[in-house]
Amino acid sequence: MLAIALTKGRLEKQSVALLEKSGYGIEALKDKGRALVFPDSKKEIHYFLVKAWDCVTYVEQGVADVGVVGKDTLLECGDEYYEVMDLGLGKCKFILASLPDNNVLNKSGHIKIGTKYPTVANNYFKQKGMDVEIIKIEGSVELAPILGLCDAIVDIMETGTTLKENGLVVFDEIYDISARVIVNKASFKLKRKEIISLLDDLKNAIKEDAAC
Ligand code: PRP
Repeated sequence: MLAIALTKGRLEKQSVALLEKSGYGIEALKDKGRALVFPDSKKEIHYFLVKAWDCVTYVEQGVADVGVVGKDTLLECGDEYYEVMDLGLGKCKFILASLPDNNVLNKSGHIKIGTKYPTVANNYFKQKGMDVEIIKIEGSVELAPILGLCDAIVDIMETGTTLKENGLVVFDEIYDISARVIVNKASFKLKRKEIISLLDDLKNAIKEDAAC
């Protein structure tokens, strides 16, 4: 029996669609109501839906053998897992953005950066040799420079609509992001056959998709 943690929200629909294309019995995930654990109707697998950070925790702790989670989350937290596959889903970017007249890359003095991703933001500015203050924000990050909480934000951009509708512009593209498969280290030894078979199925479905 394999336990697979899927990230709910943004990645959920695409991950479920890929599993379906790969031949898995995901009916319960498509018609899920308020349930959080879902048996596969064809294979010895159960899925559960969790938030991105929790997906990493479940995999690291071995409660889930496999997780599907965005690279944005992986860059921010934990490394006690194997990252084994890029699914090419949920593509977006880490960006540096602010109001048009506030390019912090050309600024000196005290600079404040609002972000949900303090590690990513810190590493980025360290590489640039800039000393900045990071302010952790939980959501609606675009609001922070508008209200003067910070000078700029490091955040993810998918369509760019949120930035545009709030009058913010991109000053730098930091990192390309997509959904990744992660595997618990012990599970990779103990359930190697099942996990390799899952990865092969996913790879084949992605290949077929690309060929269409
Ligand atoms: C993310 C991100 C941006 C938005 C970007 O937020 O933090 O706010 O999506 O998407 P776009 O480029 O397609 O407009 P999310 O929707 O995860 O919600 P949050 O603000 O509550 O974190």
